[in-house]
Amino acid sequence: MGSFAKNQWYAAAWLSELTDAPLARRILDEPVVLFRTPEGTVSALLDRCPHRLVPLSMGTVTGRGLQCGYHGMTFGGNGRCVHIPGQDTIPPQAQVPSYPIEERYGIAWIWMGEADQADRALLPDIPYHDDPDWERIDGGYQHHPSNYLNIVENLMDPAHTTFVHKQTIGNPAAADTPVTMERTDEHIVAYKWLKNSPPSQMDVKIKDFGDEKVDRGIFFYFIIPSTSRVDVITMPAGLEPTEENYNKGLRNNSYKFLTPESETSTHFFWMHLRNYKVGDKAWSERMRGVFEQTFLEDRDIEMAMQSWQNEVGVRQFVGLEIDRAPTIALRMIGKMVKDEKAERETAVA
Ligand code: FES
Ligand SMILES: [Fe+2]
Repeated sequence: MGSFAKNQWYAAAWLSELTDAPLARRILDEPVVLFRTPEGTVSALLDRCPHRLVPLSMGTVTGRGLQCGYHGMTFGGNGRCVHIPGQDTIPPQAQVPSYPIEERYGIAWIWMGEADQADRALLPDIPYHDDPDWERIDGGYQHHPSNYLNIVENLMDPAHTTFVHKQTIGNPAAADTPVTMERTDEHIVAYKWLKNSPPSQMDVKIKDFGDEKVDRGIFFYFIIPSTSRVDVITMPAGLEPTEENYNKGLRNNSYKFLTPESETSTHFFWMHLRNYKVGDKAWSERMRGVFEQTFLEDRDIEMAMQSWQNEVGVRQFVGLEIDRAPTIALRMIGKMVKDEKAERETAVA
C-alpha cells in the first residue's frame, strides 16, 4: 500500500506488553511479530516462517530465540535461523526479514522502511518524561478501526470536544474561541489562549486559586507523521509566554502515537504527563479512566466515518474553516509519502 510514510519510527508496542510470549501486530499493513530475545532486547520479524509460512507468533520464545510452532525452527533477533530440530546444517535461506527496533520511553519503536536510514535521533522527543517534578501515566493502548488520517484530523480539531466529549472533557465555552496556527517543516501547531480568565472547573479541583485570575492556553501539536502532543497550560495571569512560566502553573501534556495497522485501522497509544499531584497514584487511576473513555468517544465517531468512507470512497464533501489545521497536517503527510516514493524511484532508476 502506498499511503504510509515508511522511513519513520512508529510505536509498535509498550515494553510492558512484551513478556515471555510473542506478540503479533500488523503494522503499516505488514504482519510483524515482536518478542524479547534471550539477551532481553526487543526484536521484530516478519510474522512468517520461511519453511511452511506459518505465523511465527503461533510459536514460543525459548532460550535460543523465537521457535516456530510447527516444526521448531528457531530464529534469533536478527531473523537468522539458529536451530533446526533433527538437522545440523542450516540452509542460507533459513531466515526471516527483521525490522529495526529502538526501546525508549517504555515503548518499542519500529522502523518499517529502509533499515540503513533508521536513525535513533529521529525518535519523537518527550520533554519531562523522566523528570521527578512530573507524574506520568503510560501503558495506554486502544484499537481504532479507522484510517489513521481520520485520527490525525481529530487530534488537530479542538472544535469537536464540545460535541463528542459532552460526558467527559467537553467545555461549551471553548467552541467559540479563535485558534491560531503555526507550522515548521516537522510539525504544525494550532493553539488558543483564554487570557485573564477564571481557572477551569478541573483546575479548581486540583488547586485552590482563590480569586486569582489565570491565562489558559491549549496547544495542539502534530509532529508529522504520527505524534500528537496536546499541551494544556494554566498559569498566573499576565506572565510572558515562556517554557519556564508555563511550568509555574498547572500543566498537562497528553501524547498520542498513531501507528497505521491497515488502510482502515490504527493502533492508538497514549501517554499523559502532568506537573502536579506528583506521586498521587489514585489520581492517576481516575484520570486513566477519564482518558480511556474520552478516546473511546473519538473511536466511535472515527469508526462510523470509516464505514461511510468505505462505501463512498470520499473523505468529505464539504470543507469548513475548522478544517484548516487538519488539512495542512494531511498535506504535510501526503508530501512526506510522495517524497519517499520519489526517492525510492530514483534509487531504482
Ligand atoms: S513451518 Fe515453521 S518450522 Fe515448519
Ligand atoms: Fe476527541
